[in-house]
Amino acid sequence: MTSPPLLEVRELNVHHGQLQALHAVSLAVPAGGVHAMIGANGAGKSTLLRTIAGLHQPTTGSILLEGEDVTRLRPERRVAAGIAMVPEGRRLFASLTVEENLQVGLTSARKGPWNLAAVYDLFGWMRDRRAQRAGQLSGGEQQAVAIGRAIVANPRVLLLDELSLGLAPVVVRRIYDLLPRLLDSGVTVLLVEQDVSQAMKVADHVYCLLEGRITLQGRPLELTFEQIERAYFGISSSRNLPAGPPAQAETGAGGNQASGAGTWSG
Ligand SMILES: Nc1ncnc2c1ncn2[C@@H]1O[C@H](COP(=O)(O)OP(=O)(O)O)[C@@H](O)[C@H]1O
Ligand SMILES: [Mg+2]
Repeated sequence: MTSPPLLEVRELNVHHGQLQALHAVSLAVPAGGVHAMIGANGAGKSTLLRTIAGLHQPTTGSILLEGEDVTRLRPERRVAAGIAMVPEGRRLFASLTVEENLQVGLTSARKGPWNLAAVYDLFGWMRDRRAQRAGQLSGGEQQAVAIGRAIVANPRVLLLDELSLGLAPVVVRRIYDLLPRLLDSGVTVLLVEQDVSQAMKVADHVYCLLEGRITLQGRPLELTFEQIERAYFGISSSRNLPAGPPAQAETGAGGNQASGAGTWSG
């Protein structure tokens, strides 16, 4: 018998009111490595991570951690089971200090190699500034605190939602350079990225989400640029595009993403 995947999502349907954000999404994440979910703005990436973390209840479907069904567990119980998340936009308590924000992550923490001292060792600057209010930090520093808050819980699965959002490329690189240290400590990473080239660089396995459905998955080296473009934007003959001039809104919205996707080729 083979052991179950570390994290498994089965046929997840998730709604926000009338809107269905995820359609029968299934994935199996083995232990170890970086697994990346790419997709345009609004594809459902955050909804997926938040549902895995327990912040949304799915309409149907289930989430399993090492074969154990956690679908009905409250978020803090999922942290205790080994699922921690760095949310989109970091979501620190601006008026609390760096250390107080990190302590939030200790609330339902598991035993393991990570604690405050280990986080301070990981981010050299943080120990000296632990009494500073989080709201006074730069975006990159806040992202580091948000990562610290998640890893002090000693997760088995670390969910990272758009680490690069709003950060300068050099800061993004510094943050992604930390991934090997996290993996070495035994954490498995499932991250969400709009920047396709960034995801391709760091991931062992990539999933593409389009309008709430997984349209492509595989190892970055096995996927062609054309496959990714099609899966990311949904350009396909099976889609009934309206006759006449191309929909301006669609090409316009895609323009941004196209540059991101277009830079990925080597
Ligand atoms: N809290 C919410 N209430 C209503 N609609 C939402 C909510 N969160 C997300 N949505 C909608 O669900 C879809 C997926 O959103 P989201 O998961 O945030 O996508 P992504 O993270 O890929 O940009 C979008 O159409 C978005 O507008
Ligand atoms: Mg999002």
